[in-house]
Amino acid sequence: MKDLDQLLIPIDGFHIIVRKSVYQPSDDTYLLYDVTKKLLLRRRRVAEIGCGAGLLTLLLAQNNIVLATDLNLEAVKCVLQNLKTNKLYLNADLICCDSLKPLRESKIFDCIFFNPPYIPTEVHEDIAWSGGNEGIEVTKKFILDSIKHLKRDGKIICVLSSCMNLKKLYKFIDELGLKTVIKSKKKFFFEELYVAILERKNLYSNRANSG
Ligand SMILES: C[S@@+](CC[C@H](N)C(=O)[O-])C[C@H]1O[C@@H](n2cnc3c(N)ncnc32)[C@H](O)[C@@H]1O
Repeated sequence: MKDLDQLLIPIDGFHIIVRKSVYQPSDDTYLLYDVTKKLLLRRRRVAEIGCGAGLLTLLLAQNNIVLATDLNLEAVKCVLQNLKTNKLYLNADLICCDSLKPLRESKIFDCIFFNPPYIPTEVHEDIAWSGGNEGIEVTKKFILDSIKHLKRDGKIICVLSSCMNLKKLYKFIDELGLKTVIKSKKKFFFEELYVAILERKNLYSNRANSG
C-alpha cells in the first residue's frame, strides 16, 4: 500500500524517503547538491547542519565521514532510514540538536554544509524555512557555530538567497575574517539562489609572516 505520509524521491540511484513534516528537497537543495557533487570530496570529515531528508548527507556519506544534525526529530529519523536503505549507515552520525551546539570544541571538519532556513519572518513560524529577522538570523548562527569547528583551511558551503538581506550578511561574514566566493547561482520565479563558499581570508599571509 502506498504511504501518503511520505514521498519517495529517486535521484542518482539513491532512494530517498521524505516524511510529511520534513523539508521536501527543493530548488535550493538541488543547487547545493549539484555544486557538492562537483567538489568530488573524498575521505574528508564533513558536517551538514539542518540535513532535512538527508539528500546531501547521503551524497557526502558515499566517500566521506559525515556528521549531520537537524532540530527536527522527524528529519533525523528520516535520514537514518534513508542511510540504512541506501547502505550508507556506517559513514554518518546523526544528532537531533540545535546547529552544532553539543559538539566538543575538538570536533573539527574539513567542510561544513548547510541550506539554512532563510525566508524573512518576524516570528519563528516554521524551523524549516523561517530565517528570522531579514532572513539572516539562523544563517549567522550557523556560520558562527561552523567557524568553531572548521579546520584552518576548512570551508563552509551554503545556500544564500536574494530573499535575505545579503548586504548585511556579507558585512557580517567579512567582519568575521571570511571571504565569500559564489560558486553557482540560479534565478527562480521569486528569488535568485546562490551557493557560496566561505573560507578564512588570511590563510596564506599568516604562514608567510611566521616564516
Ligand atoms: C531549508 S531546510 C533544508 C533541508 C535540507 N538540508 C535540504 O536542503 O533539503 C532547513 C533545515 O534546517 C533545519 N533547522 C532549522 N533550524 C535548525 C537549527 N537551529 N539546528 C539544526 N537544524 C535546523 C530544519 O529542520 C530543516 O530541516
